[in-house]
Amino acid sequence: MAYETINVEVQDHVSLIKLNRPDALNALNSVLLQELSKALEEADANDKVRCIVLTGSEKAFAAGADIKEMSEMSFVDVFSTNLFAEINDRFDSVRKPVIAAVSGYALGGGCEIAMMCDFIIASETAKFGQPEINLGVIAGMGGSQRLTRFVGKSKSMDMNLTGRFMGAEEAERAGLVSRVVPAKKLIDEAMGAAQKIAEKSSLSAAAVKEAVNRSYELPLSEGMLFERRVFHSMFATEDQKEGMAAFLEKREAQFRDK
Ligand code: CAA
Repeated sequence: MAYETINVEVQDHVSLIKLNRPDALNALNSVLLQELSKALEEADANDKVRCIVLTGSEKAFAAGADIKEMSEMSFVDVFSTNLFAEINDRFDSVRKPVIAAVSGYALGGGCEIAMMCDFIIASETAKFGQPEINLGVIAGMGGSQRLTRFVGKSKSMDMNLTGRFMGAEEAERAGLVSRVVPAKKLIDEAMGAAQKIAEKSSLSAAAVKEAVNRSYELPLSEGMLFERRVFHSMFATEDQKEGMAAFLEKREAQFRDK
């Protein structure tokens, strides 16, 4: 499907979704958010796709929600349309792993979309921030909630109250990003990670997502029980037999998602 504000290509079982509004540093207007939601839905439903990579340009992953579009909106406009709920729900419902590959600015909604992904690989030029306070509002897609879970209260308060940007090195130290690579290697690194994931059983990958995401919602004892039960359930799959047999036979596993 042709899109106006994003590009999508599938390479070796990986759907690479690129935000593409260069004139506005990939600001998230309603068209882009609808197209991104649709592309995620399509990638999740496409049997050829086993992992998704979301990226922007070298200068900006996304500089936030589109301020021009929001500036004239009233409370009734944003409340009645439940502004930004849909994209959050879409990320929550995608069962395939999604990696954010972030270069340049990931601000406001840009940082929040990156945090909706399963993990973030950053280039050395990445700059994360929740500068909504400078606009007389606060974060509206998870900057006060997800960022706090990633980096803790003190740094989240600092980011949300001062609006300062955090570089890639600080973001890695704080646990917001999983790896930092030179800008030129960002896409290769993210695609490489996605291809590694694509080789696994998609049943295990979906189970990992469910279990890790539960750790944000459940007390430890409930989370441990959930994980153990999912682990137990994997013994009903052919891929468990294949994975363990392959280890014992010293060969690569051939997973069949069964
Ligand atoms: N919305 C709309 N347009 C944006 C934008 C945004 N969030 N961010 C950048 N742009 C546009 C600029 O208006 C400019 O367009 P024109 O050339 O037509 O004037 C173009 O992108 C280039 O931007 P700059 O000239 O500002 O580029 P710069 O290199 O000087 O600065 C920047 C880069 C520091 C990222 C700066 O653009 C900036 O501060 N952007 C806004 C960041 C922000 O406040 N994000 C939060 C948005 S609110 C939000 O996201 C709410 C939420 O939680 C969901």
